[in-house]
Amino acid sequence: MDIVVVGAGSLGSLLGGLLAREHDVTLVGREPHVGTVTREGLAVRGVEQFQAHPAARTDLPSGGDLALVAVKAYDTADVAADLADCAFDACLSVQNGLGNETTLAEAVDCPVLAGTCTYGARLLDPGVVEFTGRGTVTLGDPDGGRSAVADDVAEAFRAAGVESVAVADMPTRLWEKLAVNAAVNATTALARVENGALAATPGDGLAAAAARETARVAREVGVDLPTDRALSLTEQVVRETAANRSSMLQDVEDGRRTEIDAINGAVVDRASEPVPVNETLARLLRTWERGRDRR
Ligand code: PAF
Repeated sequence: MDIVVVGAGSLGSLLGGLLAREHDVTLVGREPHVGTVTREGLAVRGVEQFQAHPAARTDLPSGGDLALVAVKAYDTADVAADLADCAFDACLSVQNGLGNETTLAEAVDCPVLAGTCTYGARLLDPGVVEFTGRGTVTLGDPDGGRSAVADDVAEAFRAAGVESVAVADMPTRLWEKLAVNAAVNATTALARVENGALAATPGDGLAAAAARETARVAREVGVDLPTDRALSLTEQVVRETAANRSSMLQDVEDGRRTEIDAINGAVVDRASEPVPVNETLARLLRTWERGRDRR
């Protein structure tokens, strides 16, 4: 398969490196990462150690079998506009937050799949990505139902040793992931702690309250997400990724804009009753972002 990974941050680089062991992969990202990957290849460290040799460039190629979108949620609209001029057979978003697939589907002329990914990664240096944890890429039609395109993509991922499953209940999976991200990302970023620090208050802390609110909003918009399920998934992710620094904590530590609008902000936007915990977390992160913009 000819796969173009749009967004060569930590997750895009890791997936690109893993998929390049079986497929023709092009990483689209920024300098100096792209130049290093082009000259020396991509070094994967951590859970598995190997040197991958995807192509790398800063602009989109004209097309391919699959565009795998791994950019930050706030860059989706720009990527969608660029993809509109390309010819891909399918597009898959593995981004955090809600609404990415809708933005992509409005622009591109091919099936758009939604994905959630629990692989853990961290960019160490240009050309070097740390593989911090194995996981699963779960993908499917963002509106639900079986998708032959999703089956093909999942099979291609598995052929490269990337654990992947095509599912028919993608809307529920997206809200489950949102509940975990709403719980973990902002709290760890504000407290500057690894995910495992949240395990001290299972079912009872700020993170659990954010997950509870998210499950309630999911049900308000017609997605069947019981509160217990949102809480147990959050506890499971905290346990399994205890040593990880969440993507939002990494953004804050590196002084980058965060995905707060697509995570806790998305919960607030879709809620028909008050969601004070998500609202407070979103406001605090936006205050941090304003401070960052002033510096
Ligand atoms: O965004 C992240 O960091 C991850 O999605 C998760 C699951 C919260 C683990 O760190």
